[in-house]
Amino acid sequence: MRNLRWALIMCFFLGSSLRAETFKLKKSERISGSAGDVLEDDPVGRLKVFVYKLPSKYNKKMVEKEERCLHHMFAAEIYMHRFLLSSPVRTLNPQEADWFYVPVYTTCDLTRDGLPLPFKSPRVMRSAIQLISTTSPYWNRTQGADHFFIVPHDFGACFHYQEDIAVERGILPLLERATLVQTFGQRNHVCQREGSITIPPYAPPQKMQTHVIPPITPRAIFVYFRGLFYDVGNDPQGGYYARGARASVWENFKNNPLFDISTEHTPTYYEDMQRAIFCLCPLGWAPWSPRLVEAVVFGCIPVIIADHIVLPFADAIPWEDIGVFVHERDVPKLDTILTSIPIDVILRKQRLLANPSMKQAMLFPQPAQPGDAFHQILNGLARKLPHRDDAFLKPGEPFLNWTAGPVADLKPW
Ligand SMILES: *[C@@H]1O[C@H](CO)[C@@H](O)[C@H](O)[C@H]1NC(C)=O
Ligand SMILES: *[C@@H]1O[C@H](CO)[C@@H](O)[C@H](O)[C@H]1NC(C)=O
Repeated sequence: MRNLRWALIMCFFLGSSLRAETFKLKKSERISGSAGDVLEDDPVGRLKVFVYKLPSKYNKKMVEKEERCLHHMFAAEIYMHRFLLSSPVRTLNPQEADWFYVPVYTTCDLTRDGLPLPFKSPRVMRSAIQLISTTSPYWNRTQGADHFFIVPHDFGACFHYQEDIAVERGILPLLERATLVQTFGQRNHVCQREGSITIPPYAPPQKMQTHVIPPITPRAIFVYFRGLFYDVGNDPQGGYYARGARASVWENFKNNPLFDISTEHTPTYYEDMQRAIFCLCPLGWAPWSPRLVEAVVFGCIPVIIADHIVLPFADAIPWEDIGVFVHERDVPKLDTILTSIPIDVILRKQRLLANPSMKQAMLFPQPAQPGDAFHQILNGLARKLPHRDDAFLKPGEPFLNWTAGPVADLKPW
């Protein structure tokens, strides 16, 4: 109980003093990440992107048929397409393009309950690549090495939500040389290729904005979490979902007064995050979740429980300084870990989180704004230029194997 008393005192202290601190904050604190890249970089003028015009069945028609694709956590693929169409980095002349973008939506095939199933995506993707490779010369020139795709589903271009099946399938062979822009990020994982760009999941910016509460509100909740601890439907035995980490959070801390955790949906979810010091961001089926974005936007220190996760735009965002990383096996010690963090460390994390460029980088606002996630993706692409010499193949040099991969994926779409 000493911990409890201490934490309550801390909640009070942080609630009152930090706010003043936040207001004094100037934008002068430049944020840079593991590669020393900075969020404020402006991509305009540093790259030119050619956007293929595909038949609308690969993109727009899907959204007309299923409006809900605009709102789920994979919606970045749609908004990025729209953004690029009117972006100053777009070129209509493929001869001068640095990058080619193939606008295929891979997460817009929903079940009746609104769950996106990516099972058809390999066929859709294959069909689109077949089309561009026969109707324009640019695919064959590099076999995709100067092309990028947005694959926001759980395990990116492995196109399955269950990790073991995703791993077994691997990345779609036709995308072997392309750059993948994906939400999935995990070191040394079959579904994560070197050189991919990890992005935040989509969280609705306007909706979040309407839930912002006055910044003087004290952060009286120590640890906050809403979401599943078990996924009985898909993992009846237990232990597979979230590799057991969420179940462990529940079993260890359901009765701990420092932990405000529950499966219940609450209309004050966003407000509650603004009243909390720590927000748990455990893995689910995939290592990432929208909580990461929500925590940053609402200034709640993300407690990342997902071993080997690669976080969005980590080249430019100092996640180690902002968040708290807890090994999955250490979940039972979560209370001790969090109550042992010195108060000045917490204040520094909160100060970094309060930096507007941090929040901006996590969001896909419409219309786009400088420094937002769209611009960070472009920054990522610009930093990969110029392409290496071996991106361009010699005439007749074979590379991609059009018949590789699961037989079911080879059927026409
Ligand atoms: C690209 O190469 C494929 C064979 O791999 C060929 O069928 C296709 O016609 C080529 N595309 C162009 C535009 O020449
Ligand atoms: C292409 O992949 C198929 C299926 O894995 C394999 O049978 C075939 O030998 C491969 N072709 C080449 C040229 O590697």
